[in-house]
Amino acid sequence: MANTFSVRVPGTTANCGPGFDTLGIACTIYNELDLTLSATGELAIVNQGEGAADLTTDESNIVFQAVKMVYDTVGKTLPGFRLTLRNAIPLARGLGSSAAAIVGGLVAANASLNSPLSNQKLLELATRMEGHPDNVAPALFGGITVSTLEEDGTISALHFLPAKPLFLAVAVPAFELSTRKARAVMPSEVSMKDALFNVSHSSLLAAALCSGQYQYLPLALQDRLHQPYRSQLIPAMEAVFAAAISAGALGAVISGAGPTLLAFCDRFDAAIADAMVTAFSKAGIAAQAHILEIDARGAQVI
Ligand code: HSE
Repeated sequence: MANTFSVRVPGTTANCGPGFDTLGIACTIYNELDLTLSATGELAIVNQGEGAADLTTDESNIVFQAVKMVYDTVGKTLPGFRLTLRNAIPLARGLGSSAAAIVGGLVAANASLNSPLSNQKLLELATRMEGHPDNVAPALFGGITVSTLEEDGTISALHFLPAKPLFLAVAVPAFELSTRKARAVMPSEVSMKDALFNVSHSSLLAAALCSGQYQYLPLALQDRLHQPYRSQLIPAMEAVFAAAISAGALGAVISGAGPTLLAFCDRFDAAIADAMVTAFSKAGIAAQAHILEIDARGAQVI
């Protein structure tokens, strides 16, 4: 019987402008992990790649906690194991690194037990760990996801692929921003006017992506719930958005809680990501450019 279980999980971009805590997209950037069961009962965690020096190697490691959650949920004793984590998703940048860690641990642990838990159950466990479903749903299922979370913990997540190719031009600045800090600047209440604005734009966005009517994206990507408050934490945000749009993007948004900024494009065009990086650099901030596409598969046991 195999005793190593390897999983590949995509990074994700959440919110997509107006879809705060609701919309998410799986992207073609991946973390991989190997979970190797051992008979000795010892725990070993090896971090490689992005942020390796900053990640813990004890029971506080989030992948360890996800593995433990699966074993606890099915009532099995946690065996000794070795985790090797090969990370390409940058940490604390708004590209779903914590969701990928959680989903990777859950899927690998479930595979090691011959998959007693359904994907829906894994989604519930992942959301309990992460606090909201908009990154963990696309990390698990792939594609574009629309997720709702009820007060009793019930989650509904629909995933779909866009009707036409979509490219995501990304500028990842060289500073971290924790989700906790990015949520702390948001108000606890908003006006009915702003709530209505976001309901309508988020709905338009989902319909435009699903149907391929990308001419609606410039309008549909507008947001009033989180970006106006978070802009103070991301210097040059408006300048980077303007640079992306003048280089040909359909619209630009904060990726998740930031600080990565992301532009929606109907073609592969490195000049758009380069223009975003240049706008960051004019504000004295180094950034890395990427062009990502949509990952259709989500977490995979490989
Ligand atoms: N929806 C979340 C937020 C994503 O914007 O705070 C980051 O985890």
